[in-house]
Amino acid sequence: MLMQLYHSVQIGGLSLEGNLFLAPVAGYSDRAFRSICVEQGANLTFTELISSEAMIRSPVCNEKNPTAALLMRSDNEAYYSIQLFGANPEVMGRAAALLARWKPSAIDINAGCPVPKVVKTGAGSALMKNPANLGRVVESVAGASQTYLENVPVTVKMRSGWDAESINYRECARIAVEAGAAMISLHSRTRSQGYSGKSDWTHIADLVTRVPVPVTGSGDLFSPEDAQRMLEETGCAAVMFARGAMGNPFIFASTKELLTKGAYTAHGGAERLAAGFRQLLLLSADIGEGAACREMRKQFCAYTRGIPQGAELRNRLVHAETIAEYKRILERDNPRP
Ligand SMILES: Cc1cc2nc3c(=O)[nH]c(=O)nc-3n(C[C@H](O)[C@H](O)[C@H](O)COP(=O)(O)O)c2cc1C
Repeated sequence: MLMQLYHSVQIGGLSLEGNLFLAPVAGYSDRAFRSICVEQGANLTFTELISSEAMIRSPVCNEKNPTAALLMRSDNEAYYSIQLFGANPEVMGRAAALLARWKPSAIDINAGCPVPKVVKTGAGSALMKNPANLGRVVESVAGASQTYLENVPVTVKMRSGWDAESINYRECARIAVEAGAAMISLHSRTRSQGYSGKSDWTHIADLVTRVPVPVTGSGDLFSPEDAQRMLEETGCAAVMFARGAMGNPFIFASTKELLTKGAYTAHGGAERLAAGFRQLLLLSADIGEGAACREMRKQFCAYTRGIPQGAELRNRLVHAETIAEYKRILERDNPRP
């Protein structure tokens, strides 16, 4: 008999029907893409990392501002979390308070970003080098949530540690939970690994046994089978698709099918391209046609991965400047996308 691997998740006061999440992915998880993933069954989505310093410098009021498009909830997004990054507890608290107008279902704190521009300010994965400060950041954001956001849960996404010599997810997670974190997402690579090497899922399995809050696993989830294996091997409460969802939002539907029925139907290239085209239309409504067409070039690199004549199609799509051009190119190759 199948274990109940697809199940509800309780994150503080937030009840979710299922445990398949879309990870924060800078440059990809805008609300157009999040919306397509929700259609396919993502139970919780995350915005990409948003700078707390930028938020308080110029609070985003204008909806045409690209950051506003990142922050806004899509129409079908019942639950979404906004991810903030920053190292200054006071600034993080003030930025969190400003999120009230977007009514996020949760606020996530980024303690995993490896990018130099972010870590040199002490934020992202550098927060793990100073666990006491991570605790202060969580406490400040949790306080803002209590005062301004009806106490939506505050969660933390971290890595295993800074490098192989300083694996400290246990200590960081304990401090974060003591400071008020209601969920820990663990991308089980170190900062030094970046996105290469293998994600060490034994860290996820270990953390599950050490904190009293749900642990969400992240790292090397490229197929429904990977998600099933992570849930079985680590006992994590939820899984978070990142690169595996890029160009393949159907991974949510397929994983739910696999977990609940033991098998799933694969989604072909035509379906994926049609999803990409719909994403283009949604994005265009948010940021305008020209910007959306440029932005979708990299997304179509993902949508065309692994499909017949994908490289050829990719070469043509990267020059498309208008929606009509995208349509022409996609229809020529796929009469019924
Ligand atoms: C291009 C890219 C952008 C990312 N942006 C973020 C981000 O904004 N916030 C975050 O917490 N993690 C970010 N991540 C990390 C992912 O959420 C995820 O933890 C990581 O990719 C591991 O999962 P995977 O191996 O299944 O892709 C990003 C990853 C990639 C590849």
